Order: sequence, then structure tokens, then C-alpha cells
Amino acid sequence: MQFEVLAKCHTTRARVSRMRLTHGVTMLPTFMPVATQAAIKGLTPQQVEALGINLILNNTYHLNLRPGIQVLKEAGGAHKFQGWTHNLLTDSGGFQLVSLSKFTKITEEGALFASPFDGSPTMLTPEESISIQHTIGADIIMQLDDVVSSLTVGPRVEEAMWRTIRWLDRCIEFHQSSGKDDVQNLFAIVQGGLDAELRDKCLDEMIARKDKVAGYAIGGLSGGEEKDVFWRVIKQCADKLPEDRPRYSMGIGFAEDLLVCVALGVDMADCVFPTRTARFGVALTFKGPLNLRLGKHATDMRPIEEGCPCPTCTSGMTRALLNHTATLETAAAHAITQHNLVFQARVMGGAREAIINGTFPQYLKDFFANYFGDVG
Ligand code: GUN
Ligand code: ZN
Repeated sequence: MQFEVLAKCHTTRARVSRMRLTHGVTMLPTFMPVATQAAIKGLTPQQVEALGINLILNNTYHLNLRPGIQVLKEAGGAHKFQGWTHNLLTDSGGFQLVSLSKFTKITEEGALFASPFDGSPTMLTPEESISIQHTIGADIIMQLDDVVSSLTVGPRVEEAMWRTIRWLDRCIEFHQSSGKDDVQNLFAIVQGGLDAELRDKCLDEMIARKDKVAGYAIGGLSGGEEKDVFWRVIKQCADKLPEDRPRYSMGIGFAEDLLVCVALGVDMADCVFPTRTARFGVALTFKGPLNLRLGKHATDMRPIEEGCPCPTCTSGMTRALLNHTATLETAAAHAITQHNLVFQARVMGGAREAIINGTFPQYLKDFFANYFGDVG
């Protein structure tokens, strides 16, 4: 990976950087759409590419279950399997195991879970997660981490933090001895819950391994904690993480959270929110979210957002049409999905431009005044 900071905001910690990976250059800060099952629901890779998106996220857990590692191997990796020629990041699977399977048991060896197919006990170790991610072939791969809910308190939080560090060492060892570390970039994941002391210890340990990791993620957040606590953890981590490594806040996707994270020095984020909410008929706009299923849109002949360059808004699809079809047609879900991904890209692209022009504080003020003002 080549990572270069190009511009910094003078009053916040926001920065613009260029990240060159095996499948091209991605400008940061950026939002990464989630293609859990090797597809952004409802869109073809060509459509995603046409929106200007060049870094997406797949999940190791899901791809390992379906289509399975053998198919991915035969396809020559997940890029070829899904027809995606740009950058790709895979999450390691630990988070999905904990959030999706009631039967997951974490041991020092790895995460033990019941196979969703036949219920048989299956173990995901740090080495196996990296091995699967090697077969998938993503440009950025994540360490297996021991994730606890951000609402968990007590000794389990500290245990998970230290185990995440030990698992990082196993991931580094396996990755470095694989010979793939020149084309695939391993990121560490900072854990430690909402506890400043635990986060600090985790940061120290992981920063000590800086030469062996390409970037850092901030994990264990976005699980129902209070906003001020969330901000404090992001600030603490982003302040301490090395300048010359990308910083990725996991599972963050509300525009207001993205911009606060960017102001605190975060470079990357991902979330299912913009695509999932689209399938429920909610379009994101600079004046706040718009629930197109509400009756008040039934006669509204405006596009979702005036001036939006997305295929939905520029093709003449009206709020009235989307209201009419939102509960009936998958086409409306696809149209709103495209709009929402362009919205996320405009929020982050606008931030990059403002950081470069020295106007990021004003950009933040304007964004928040509009977003929490009257809905148009
Ligand atoms: N996605 C959202 N939060 C997390 C986390 O803490 N760890 C991992 N691996 N994925 C996540
Ligand atoms: Zn649009």
C-alpha cells in the first residue's frame, strides 16, 4: 500500500490522503458501501462503478458460507467472482459471528460456532480467517478480533482487548509467512470497549506493531452507546494512531457521524445503513432523510434532491413515482439505493474538497444547519 497525506484542515484533525492499493487509487476520507454477499443489493458492479465508487466491503463470514471457499478459489478470488475490478476490503468474520450466531463461543484458539447448515461445531481461528481472506483476495484484510458489545462492562471487555492483541500477532505471523503481504494489506482493530484506559493500552500495543500492519481500524463501537462516549473513543484513538497509517471506524454510516469522525481524523468508514434504509423507502438528502413511503410525497413531482447527479435524480424519477412504487417494486429500492450511495459519496467528496480548500469548518456548519433544519 502507498499512503500519502495530501492536505490537512488547520482547525480540526481532518485530512485528505491518497491510498494506492493493488486495484487502484482511493481518495480518503471515503465511505465504503457494504456488499455482504459479493453484491450491493440490487446493483450490478457496473452500476456501482458508474456511481464513482472504487472501494467496497465484503464479509468473510458470508462468503465462506456461500458460495464457499472452493468456488472462490475456482473463480480466482472475489474480484473475479463478482466482476469488480476496483478496491475491495474484507471484514474478518468475528463481528458477524458474534452478531449473527447465538451459539458462538470464544476460546483462545478462535471462535467456535454452530454451522448454519447442519449445526455441527465449526472453529474460526485467526489463521483461518486470514487464510480465507487470502483466497478471497481483498486489497485490505482485517485481523480476527474478539468483539464484545459496546454495552458490555466488566472483565470480559479487558479479556477481549488482550485476546484481540494476541490474535493480531497470530494474524501478522500467518500473513507475513504467506508471501501475500505485498498485495494484501492487513489492518489491526483497536478494541477496549468504552474504557479510556483499556483503549489506551490497546493503542500502545498495536502501535508497537506498526511496522507489521498497513492501517488501523477502531472497532467495538456503534452498538448503542451514547454519542458523546462514541465521540470520545474515536477522538482518543484517532489522536494517538500514527499519522502515516489510514484510520478506519467500523460500522459508522450516518452522515452526521461520518463528518464528526472525519473532523476527528478518521479516513474510512463502512455501514449497511444507506443501502438498507433505501430498501425501506428512505432516501438520504442534505436536508435530512426522506421517507418516500409517506403519503405526502404522492403528488410531489420533484426529484429526491434538486441538483443531485445520481442516475435516479437525473433521469426524471419523481418523489411521486418512488412513493407509488416504493412498497411494490424492487426498481424503487434500486433507484433509492443508487441515490443514497451517491449521497454518501457527495458528503465525503465535499469534505475532501473543503479540507483541500481550507473551508472544512464552514462545510461542517453548512452541513449541520441544512441537515437538521426543515425537511424540504
Ligand atoms: N464491524 C463493526 N464493528 C466491528 C468490530 O469491532 N470488529 C469487526 N471485525 N467488524 C466490525
Ligand atoms: Zn439522487
